[in-house]
Amino acid sequence: MNLSSPEILPDTAQGHSRAARILSTGGLVAFPTETVYGLGGDACDDRAVARIYEAKGRPSFNPLIVHFADLDTLKQNVHWTTEAELLARTYWPGPLTLVLKKRADSPISPLVSAGLETIAVRLPAHATARAILRAAGCGVAAPSANRSGQISPTQAAHVVASLGDRVDAVVDGGACAVGVESTIVGLLDKPVLLRPGGITEEDLAHTLGRHLAVRHKAEAISAPGQLMSHYAPHAHVRLNATEWLPGELRLGFGEVDCDLNLSETEDLVEAAAHLFDYLHQLDARRAEVIAVSPIPHEGLGIAINDRLSRAAAPRDD
Ligand code: TXA
Ligand code: MG
Repeated sequence: MNLSSPEILPDTAQGHSRAARILSTGGLVAFPTETVYGLGGDACDDRAVARIYEAKGRPSFNPLIVHFADLDTLKQNVHWTTEAELLARTYWPGPLTLVLKKRADSPISPLVSAGLETIAVRLPAHATARAILRAAGCGVAAPSANRSGQISPTQAAHVVASLGDRVDAVVDGGACAVGVESTIVGLLDKPVLLRPGGITEEDLAHTLGRHLAVRHKAEAISAPGQLMSHYAPHAHVRLNATEWLPGELRLGFGEVDCDLNLSETEDLVEAAAHLFDYLHQLDARRAEVIAVSPIPHEGLGIAINDRLSRAAAPRDD
């Protein structure tokens, strides 16, 4: 257990410029985005990127998303396509990540792509993230700011609890509005949904005028957020619980008697925003089992069910 703490920075201009200074000297800073908190490091600095993998305990085959403040800088690093332009115009800044072929002259560290010829890029909407990215002036590699395999953080306190002083500073910008990670779309030969998230497949298909292929589970891991056991609390997770068993902690949805309710009014947006925080809260009570009400498999419910099924998956350890 790590007892010392990272520097906690306020969500002010001063806090943002301190964060940018730490990034520009190779340090790691966690900051809020509209989806979850990211563990940021200068994407062009090999050592900073290596420190991200080390801080997360992340398998090095699991590549990182690079965050940018503006589209022009982002485009200098990738082979841009018509479909990328369509999606960028509609959803950026926002909770969407695009995987594109990396340009040979991109200064982004090859460690970011973990051996792939592609790179995942995103233009976040959160004002704090944008201010820090602007001040840093570089692409910032930022996976979710949690130890690999654990529940993603939607509050500064979650980051501190998971990473301790493996991160140099945390900018405390309150709770994240979306609450599940960005949707990841691969745009290599055809559009492929690599991870469901804050933007739904229906929306993307509407924008592109065609459905997206969904990555097949048996294929090589191209988005290891797809690793089967992920987002895992210490407790076991029992899904689609229509009744509660003795001793379980109860994570409800809709009009049910429970310990914490993702959304009494069955609002999927509210449920996504609460998901990781409530898993953190219930897990802190050290129950053996967290049981979860059924969540409709539509819209944002697809991303919520995706995260829950990984939280419930059998563990290797
Ligand atoms: O909402 C988000 O996307 C958050 C915030 C901080 O931006 N970030 C996030 O990062 O969720 P992370 O590292 O926890 O998840 C990134 C996912 C991983 O599943 C990774 O495998 C995939 O993106 N990824 C990154 N680069 C890729 C690439 N070149 N090809 C395919 N998948 C990639
Ligand atoms: Mg993650």
